[in-house]
Amino acid sequence: MRIVLVGPPGAGKGTQATVLAKTLSIPHISTGDLFRANISQGTELGRRAKAFMDAGDLVPDEVTISMAKDRMEQADAAGGFLLDGFPRNVSQAEALDVMLKAEGMSLDAVLDLEVEEDEVVKRLAGRRTCRNDSSHIFHVAYRPPKVEGVCDIDGGELYVREDQTEDAVRNRLDVYHTQTEPIIDYYKAQGLVSTIPALGEVKDVTQRAMDALKK
Ligand code: AP5
Ligand code: MG
Repeated sequence: MRIVLVGPPGAGKGTQATVLAKTLSIPHISTGDLFRANISQGTELGRRAKAFMDAGDLVPDEVTISMAKDRMEQADAAGGFLLDGFPRNVSQAEALDVMLKAEGMSLDAVLDLEVEEDEVVKRLAGRRTCRNDSSHIFHVAYRPPKVEGVCDIDGGELYVREDQTEDAVRNRLDVYHTQTEPIIDYYKAQGLVSTIPALGEVKDVTQRAMDALKK
């Protein structure tokens, strides 16, 4: 299956994508995680992306689209993938359609995680992310690690992402409403969107997403 996960910052895209990708045996492709891996490896791509990310702005399309394309062309993605955080504006969505069409492929579903802004702010305020792998996600209250400050999965240090400051979160929400939300209508016109209420326990949200995919 080829699936796009969309939703505001802190909606739980990364949390859900990890479980869904494992259940469906497809790779979880997060452009945010790819950028953060490049930053920690000190690459030129990471250097270009960092200031945009810290401010909560979108990284320019020419950087993002080619990085996403490279990842989708890797062998493990030949049978499908779960995209988390890409596309994030209409021109990225159009580029993805062109890319897939050239290979005779198309998307199967777009899952729109719906959560109100108060909850998103609470989720982001308490989030802790693993230094080694930013798809390892915890929360001080909702999903505490067994040992404070230490990742349960690989023992990495848990840290507060640089884009979790109040200013950056406010900007990311603005960017989401103005630039990302229009892709929901773009995909609705293709009949691809399922809206998933994303409040409640992680496992319940996963079940709703799986039920939507079965339809
Ligand atoms: P990205 O990393 O994609 O960040 P984001 O979209 O802002 O979303 P987050 O990762 O902050 O939240 P999430 O929805 O994954 O929630 P999570 O699972 O962590 O992008 C970062 C930046 O990279 C962008 O700002 C941009 O600069 C750049 N970028 C990336 N892609 C780009 C693109 N395509 N184009 C241009 N630029 C791009 O959960 C949040 C917290 O809530 C966690 O603590 C979690 O434990 C908790 N939680 C999750 N589910 C629940 C639940 N059901 N109940 C209680 N707590 C929960
Ligand atoms: Mg994420």
